[in-house]
Amino acid sequence: MASYNIGILGGDGIGPEVMREGLKVLKAVADVEDFSYDLIEYPYDSEHYIKTKELVPDSVIDEWRTLDAFLLGAIGHPDVEPGLVERSVILGLRFGLDLYINLRPIKLYAEHLCPLKGKGPADVDFTVVRENTEGMYSQIGGHLKKGTPDEVAIVNGVYTWKGCERASRYAFELAQKRAADRGGDHKPQVTLVDKANAVRPQDIWTRAFASVAKDFPDIATDHAYVDAACMWMIKNPEWFDVIVTTNLFGDIVTDLAAMLQGGMGIAASGNIHPGRTSMFEPIHGSAPKHAGKNVACPLGMVSSVQMMLDFLGETSAAARVETAMADLLGSGDIPSADARSGIGTSEMGDMVVERLRPD
Ligand code: IPM
Ligand code: MG
Repeated sequence: MASYNIGILGGDGIGPEVMREGLKVLKAVADVEDFSYDLIEYPYDSEHYIKTKELVPDSVIDEWRTLDAFLLGAIGHPDVEPGLVERSVILGLRFGLDLYINLRPIKLYAEHLCPLKGKGPADVDFTVVRENTEGMYSQIGGHLKKGTPDEVAIVNGVYTWKGCERASRYAFELAQKRAADRGGDHKPQVTLVDKANAVRPQDIWTRAFASVAKDFPDIATDHAYVDAACMWMIKNPEWFDVIVTTNLFGDIVTDLAAMLQGGMGIAASGNIHPGRTSMFEPIHGSAPKHAGKNVACPLGMVSSVQMMLDFLGETSAAARVETAMADLLGSGDIPSADARSGIGTSEMGDMVVERLRPD
């Protein structure tokens, strides 16, 4: 029986609550499928920082590289300088483990969750491949004459051929896999989203994407500038299959896209380096105003657990979690995937677990 070492960090705000439900689902699915796991819990949330002033030490990043996978709840605390703990934990994982793909599936399970008029599950089913280690997140830049009227702030967008190439390749391979899974008349397509008209150096993406596309003659290619892509996502989400884009644009368009599938409460992500330790987290933040009230929607976390199982090769367990979620959402028992659903965080976790068990 396969066994996995999984690092966990509940984090701030609603993070620990949704993590509990994700782990509840993991345990329940492990009971009916053929795998086991050990959890290694890490303390590096913002409360830990407030108490100890300690951020994630390099030695711990080294330890994380030896795990099979990592689950993260959420990071972000009103009493800590914005971005400090996020950079340490989230970017520590993404950059430290070279998790160069941020995979964000956008899949609508039930029409009532979609805010778009006349769109249903057949229209909203695409995946965003967000480059995850470069771009405007590269932390190269700084301030000059800070705090004076002459202040200058510079941030560099870093795009390497290697980064654009490997993200594009992942997107094409994913399109191939989606076509194989869906069969029938599903036509695979990869859309490059950038802003290479105004930000000319982004044409490195245009060229890297085109060079990878040559290896995938059966996959259609498309291109949209990021502003237009936002418009198309609302107008015709069914046009998208796989999107590949830069780190910052991927961050932005996936909040928008998450709304199409029911909101931030349900959107999941995988921070992936194929074949290496990878990290899975809901895309929502720590939502301090909802923390500790048992109102946060845990489905983004549950779906992140599903993505982790799929990544670990536990495809039957992953499918079981997805089916349970799809059944639950399809039943109409969940009016919305957010804090106003009227269903408690732990109760929603229980509802998923009930549907996991074979009858
Ligand atoms: C996300 C988040 C992070 C990001 C923040 C918390 C640093 O918004 O995962 O989408 O910008 O990547
Ligand atoms: Mg974001």
